Amino acid sequence: MNEYDSEILRGLLIKSGFVPVESEESANIVLFNGCSVREHAERRVIGRAGMLRKRKEKDERLKIIGVIGCMAQAHKEKLFGEMPYLDLICGPQHIYKIPEYLSEILAGRGPIVAVDEDKRPADRENHLLRDENIKIKAYITIMEGCNNFCSYCVVPYVRGRETSRPPEMILKEADDLVKRGIREITLLGQNVNSYAKDFNNGYTFSNLLKEVDAISDLKRLKFVTSHPKDADEQMFKAMFKLPTVCEFLHLPIQSGSDEILKSMNRKYTRDDYLRKIDIARRYMPEGAISTDIIVGYPNESDDDFKETLNVLKQVKYDTAYVFKYSPRPHTAASKMEDNVPQKVKEERNQILLNLQRDISRKNNEKYLNKKLGVLVEGFSDKCDKLLVGKTRTGKTVVFEGPQVLIGKIVEVRVHGTNASTLLGNWKKI
Ligand code: 5AD
Ligand code: SF4
Repeated sequence: MNEYDSEILRGLLIKSGFVPVESEESANIVLFNGCSVREHAERRVIGRAGMLRKRKEKDERLKIIGVIGCMAQAHKEKLFGEMPYLDLICGPQHIYKIPEYLSEILAGRGPIVAVDEDKRPADRENHLLRDENIKIKAYITIMEGCNNFCSYCVVPYVRGRETSRPPEMILKEADDLVKRGIREITLLGQNVNSYAKDFNNGYTFSNLLKEVDAISDLKRLKFVTSHPKDADEQMFKAMFKLPTVCEFLHLPIQSGSDEILKSMNRKYTRDDYLRKIDIARRYMPEGAISTDIIVGYPNESDDDFKETLNVLKQVKYDTAYVFKYSPRPHTAASKMEDNVPQKVKEERNQILLNLQRDISRKNNEKYLNKKLGVLVEGFSDKCDKLLVGKTRTGKTVVFEGPQVLIGKIVEVRVHGTNASTLLGNWKKI
């Protein structure tokens, strides 16, 4: 979601006359769009901004350092305590005003703090101003905020309550992006299954999927994130039926232990979750499923952790994103003792990652010698002879081919696999 906000902000800044530069070293203004979901990301922002501060003391060209996004919202004025050299602190609700704020600060009327006390969701009217450099795939926020209050999660406190954007606005944005050449759209929301519930008019997320799917020339439609308590058969059916909707489901479980799930306020049990996975697999037997897991949540015992390992072995995810628990401001869990030692969190993290790597490697082997449709995204960072693209199921495929393929969907035959990548051959026919 922060990445999406950055896309919008880049577009806004360019339209207001600011010029993007290639490197941080040549910038007059540096803004960090910080995520507050985990402490680790925040520490990185604080560290990098601290390095810049040293440059700012010596280099007159560096005029503004700012922290924006939900990290700014989570800590508000308190950020000045830790980073008194900041010129701008701005929550996600106010990103549309950033060009104005920057002009004020440049005119000597800074620093500026713009955070909302009531955490209203942002005014989402101006999305079409987004950065025009985005060429192949794009995100669209369909709703903001969250009503779930999982005990560990800061999102409801920094992004406010669930507020859906009107479907007409989303469809207009999607249509505009597709006309510009975008081939893949990912719909974003903290809990997409709740989309439109706040309209109280019977419109649902599945209706939205159907309407976006109907945009001609759109090739692929994805969405994140689904909450297991709300992901229902109707949604899996819609995924299965609609041609652009990809066979890819991100369904965060967070923990395999019922006791921990209860303490996390997730409102489902391990068995409820596994039943949903069964339904999803019935509709998409060839689909990919990924998840999020937190290790080291307060009171997580060895037995709780084993339950999580068992779920991984049972579901055989394509990808599992594993996070070490960190207490977040305002949350219910932050009032509990953070009593799993850091060393144990590290160990559990490693055990899960190793297990998942083996599972991913095995899962990927089933693609050997198969032909897959790959949306080509560009040249590989590691080798500029190799193209990189993604399958509908989100697998990364690397193969040799000409530049003209970028932005196209091509058929690639897989000849090698590892845990994270498929290696393929493409031949001109
Ligand atoms: N500590 C660690 N991980 C967290 N996540 C959310 N809050 C925390 C926290 N306090 C993880 C969850 C969520 C993902 C986006 O980040 O797994 O699904
Ligand atoms: Fe956070 Fe839970 Fe909402 Fe996801 S569903 S954003 S984890 S509160």
